[in-house]
Amino acid sequence: MIKKKEFKKPVKKDAEVVVKKAPPSIAPVRGMRDILPAENPWWDMVRAKCREIAVAYGFEHIDTPVLEETALFVRGVGKYTDIVEKELYSFETLGGSKLTLRPEGTAGVMRAYISNGMVNLPQPVKLWYEGAMFRHDRPQHGRYRQFYQFGCEVIGEDDAVTDAQLILISHIILKELGIKATININSIGTPEVRTNYRNALISFFRGYRAKLSEEDKKRLLRNPMRLLDSKDPAMLEIRAEAPQIVDWLDETSKMHFMRVLEYLDESNVPYQLDPYLVRGLDYYTGTVFEIFPEQEPVAPGMPEEAGPIALGGGGRYDGLAEILGGRPTPAVGFSLGLDRVVSHLKTLGVRPEKFPREVFVAQLGEQGRKKALAIFEELRKAGVSAGEAFSKDSIRVQMDVANRLGAKFAIVIGQKEVLDGTALIRDMDSGTQEIVDASKIVQEIKKKLEHQV
Ligand code: HAM
Repeated sequence: MIKKKEFKKPVKKDAEVVVKKAPPSIAPVRGMRDILPAENPWWDMVRAKCREIAVAYGFEHIDTPVLEETALFVRGVGKYTDIVEKELYSFETLGGSKLTLRPEGTAGVMRAYISNGMVNLPQPVKLWYEGAMFRHDRPQHGRYRQFYQFGCEVIGEDDAVTDAQLILISHIILKELGIKATININSIGTPEVRTNYRNALISFFRGYRAKLSEEDKKRLLRNPMRLLDSKDPAMLEIRAEAPQIVDWLDETSKMHFMRVLEYLDESNVPYQLDPYLVRGLDYYTGTVFEIFPEQEPVAPGMPEEAGPIALGGGGRYDGLAEILGGRPTPAVGFSLGLDRVVSHLKTLGVRPEKFPREVFVAQLGEQGRKKALAIFEELRKAGVSAGEAFSKDSIRVQMDVANRLGAKFAIVIGQKEVLDGTALIRDMDSGTQEIVDASKIVQEIKKKLEHQV
């Protein structure tokens, strides 16, 4: 024990008085944001619709890790893509593993298909996923560094009807949410087709070398197809004369593409051919597409910045399984950018349904509060949505909350009601009140709610 006289308070001279500074506040990381309760009802609505349609079409839910080996994306998405060259969040762990936050979902889903031996399941394997993706891109409207995708992948099927069905699914999800969407579509054929086409592009663009930006000159060497979706305005003019991949397609790719388009015609999915659509991920083969809001159609071949931003994209990736060390396995899929879907719904004025609070449970006094807690749970179990403000004492404050929640009835339990074994039901519109037996409160309230409809 410290004796009183031993314990001397340190004496501070004036100059030593420490001014306690508040620590600086911490903001979210640039390009990342909080999605607050006020906005989340839109997200919940969008996620619920995506799940509903995916499940109806026979897709099963998969979750894959947010972190994967960096090699998965370098090999899967492609070494010379913008995503891998400039946008990966990669780091080395203390143990020396090279890991990356996933920039997209498809490579991880295909990795999971291979690592979990899903090739032994009845094919095709139809999977949906939803979650955060990370790209160290320049933050701007509709472009975040942490964003959310919902995706559907069909692995183990090469029929053209699958490509069309996936496009249809993406279209239905948006339609049922209230967004009229249109599809920009192209076929980029087999790897052989692309090798020939790439050579043709190189010879074509070499003729314009002097006019190319430094960035585009680099692209010409490494990934000439990326020149087709260059953002450089001068490039748009040059590109108009460039060879188009459709003219280089082999018979099988052409037939496949024709069938996809026929199914889309049959399903009344609006689309436009976009000969310059090559997509920014290297794993694609054959059909590629992007989904735009129909309100402002994008001219074929216009870069994203020049028109509305894509709500989603996808395509066939028959070569990915092999690139990742699996057996050759055809596959096709799409993903929707949920941030963009939510933002578009808000601009259209689409409002999510509010979770209705039909009843409010109000209380007075400690005994009343205890009883009210139990009644709230009885109501919940019986499927009646109720609101409460149990931490508040004032009945006026509680009634204000009841009104704000839009409750049709309030159940009031005070000291007297506890003693009598009763409860008071108040009609929030008319103000009329009725005393009922507390043990029958759930039945009474249900009866009243049914009469209301
Ligand atoms: P993606 O075109 O790179 O394709 O992305 C799909 C969608 O994600 C885009 O259309 C966009 O709506 C959204 N998105 C992409 N980057 C951002 C960002 N920085 N901020 C906000 N939203 C963004 C893929 O990711 C492929 N995995 C799609 C796929 C699935 N292909 C086959 N299966």
